[in-house]
Amino acid sequence: MSDDDGTAPRIGRRLLLAGATAGLTAELARTSLSPASASAGSAPPPAQLRRYENKVVVITGATSGIGRAAAIAFAREGAKVGFCGRRESLGLQVEREIRAAGGTATYIRSDVRVPAQVQSFVDRVAQLYGGLHVALNNAGVQLVKPLHEMTVAEWDDTAHTNTRGVFLAIKYEVPHMKRSGGGVILVTGSANEFASRPGLGAYSASKGGVTGLVRTAALDYGPDRIRVAAVSPGTTDTGLVDARRPPNVNDEQWAALKAQYGAANVDALRRMARPEEMATAALALASPDMSFLTGTSVLVDGGMLAGL
Ligand SMILES: NC(=O)c1ccc[n+]([C@@H]2O[C@H](COP(=O)([O-])OP(=O)(O)OC[C@H]3O[C@@H](n4cnc5c(N)ncnc54)[C@H](OP(=O)(O)O)[C@@H]3O)[C@@H](O)[C@H]2O)c1
Repeated sequence: MSDDDGTAPRIGRRLLLAGATAGLTAELARTSLSPASASAGSAPPPAQLRRYENKVVVITGATSGIGRAAAIAFAREGAKVGFCGRRESLGLQVEREIRAAGGTATYIRSDVRVPAQVQSFVDRVAQLYGGLHVALNNAGVQLVKPLHEMTVAEWDDTAHTNTRGVFLAIKYEVPHMKRSGGGVILVTGSANEFASRPGLGAYSASKGGVTGLVRTAALDYGPDRIRVAAVSPGTTDTGLVDARRPPNVNDEQWAALKAQYGAANVDALRRMARPEEMATAALALASPDMSFLTGTSVLVDGGMLAGL
C-alpha cells in the first residue's frame, strides 16, 4: 500500500500539536493502524546526580504524567518533595513509590482552582520540610472545542486551572522563597504558548497567560534571587493524550497510533516525548547550572515547531 493511492493509513500532520489532541479521535475513526508502523523511541534514564539534596520542592499536579515524573526525579536527587493533585489514590501511590525508593515525599490533596487549598498545600509543605527552594507549577487540563461551542464554565475551568492556578501557586510560594533567601519557580507551559491548533482556544490562551505570568514574576522577584521560567513541552505521552483514546482501540493499537503520530508530527525527533524527559528538563532548569536563566519559556518539543 502506498501513500500515493490515498488509501494508506496516515496520521495527518499537525493534528496534535504540543499535547493538543484535537482531531486525533476523528483521525482514529478513519485510520487503521499496524503496530509494526510504530517506532517507540526512548531516551536514556537521567544521570544519578544529587543536585537537590535537602532542598524543598513543591509540585502541583503530580498524581500523573509530567508532574509525577518530576516528583520522582527530584526525590531521587535528594529533594524533599511536597506535591498535590485531586486524585487521592494516585497521589498516595506516587508517595509510596518515592518512599519505597528511599526518597522523601508527601502528597497533599489540593485543587489548584481553590485559593485556600493552594495556600494550605504550600504552607504545609514549607512547614513540614523547613522552607521552600523550588516549585514546579505544573497542574493543567486541556479542553478541545471550538470557541462558539464552549461554555463559559468550560472556559473558566481551563483558565482557572492552567493560569489562575499558576498565579495562586506563585502568590503563596514567593513569601516562603523570600524567607529561604531565594529560589526557582518553574511553570509547565506548552508549545501552545507559541502556536495553536483548531479547538485549542481556551488551552492556548491559558498557556499564553502563563508566558505573561512568567515574564512578570521574573521581573518582580529577580531582586529577591528568585528565578522564574517555563518548561514548555511539545507533545508528551501522558494522561492528557490518553484522554483522547476512543473506546474501541486496544492498548496495542493505541501505542501504535501514538508512535505513528509522533513520527508524523514531531519533525526532528519523530516521536512523542516521555514524561521523564520533561522532568529531566525541569531539573536542569531549576539547577544552579542555570543561574542566569529567568523570565523566559524553554521549548522542549523535539523540534516540533522547528518544521514548517
Ligand atoms: N502531555 C502533553 O503533550 C503536554 C504538552 C504541553 C504541555 N503539557 C502540560 O503539562 C502539564 C501536565 O500535564 P500532563 O501532560 O502530565 O497530563 P496529566 O497526566 O493529565 O497530568 C495533569 C496533572 O495535573 C493535575 N491537575 C489537573 N487539574 C488539577 C487541579 N484542578 N488541581 C490540582 N491538580 C490538577 C492532575 O491531577 P488530578 O487529576 O489528580 O487533579 C495531574 O496530576 C499540564 O500543565 C499540561 O498542560 C502537556
